[in-house]
Amino acid sequence: MKKGLLISLEGPDGSGKSSVLEALSNFFQENKQEVITTREPGGVPIAEAIRQIILDPKNTAMDEKTELLLYIASRRQHLAERVLPALDKGETIIMDRFIDSSVAYQGFGRGLTVEEINWLNHYATDGLKPDLTLYLDLDVEVGLARIAKSQHREADRLDRESLDWHERVRQGYLTILAAEPDRLVKIDASQPLDKVIADSLAVIQERFG
Ligand code: TMP
Repeated sequence: MKKGLLISLEGPDGSGKSSVLEALSNFFQENKQEVITTREPGGVPIAEAIRQIILDPKNTAMDEKTELLLYIASRRQHLAERVLPALDKGETIIMDRFIDSSVAYQGFGRGLTVEEINWLNHYATDGLKPDLTLYLDLDVEVGLARIAKSQHREADRLDRESLDWHERVRQGYLTILAAEPDRLVKIDASQPLDKVIADSLAVIQERFG
């Protein structure tokens, strides 16, 4: 039985999730509260190996359903090996991407059937959903320009998709947000990073104290 708290961060590429995750982790540590931060795809060695395959710009031949199934496989391994045991122990986990990424990217971006993705997500997670999802919303052109400018980040296979594709992904997120307003909270990621972090913390504090 799940006893811990699961928070996911979602958003288009370049929305600043990783920086927010780091800041949240530091905040919790400074306040002597244990949190585990992790990411998808990846988080454990088998899932990180799957991540390499998915994001390798050389893998231009990858079929869309193969891509989806690799994300789902990575999700299952990460969940079974890391997330579920930690939640069972009552720990708090903050995850950089989770189930909504597959719906937004493979469903709305690639055009795969959302009902089938929901089923696969349910299969991979045994029906686990985050207690809270912070959705960092940002104009896709701004996000992609941030990635292009970043010295820490090479554009991966998905970053290299068209602007239209990234726009569909964002619309996907906005559709999920409208469908599950209790679980997802929108954060304006066009603000300065400090404000994005402050807004994210305020939502967490309001929800969980
Ligand atoms: P990241 O750059 O935020 O670590 O995520 C890697 C890429 O994988 C990003 O472009 C979003 C994409 N992605 C999907 O397309 N489907 C998924 O299910 C997940 C978890 C990520």
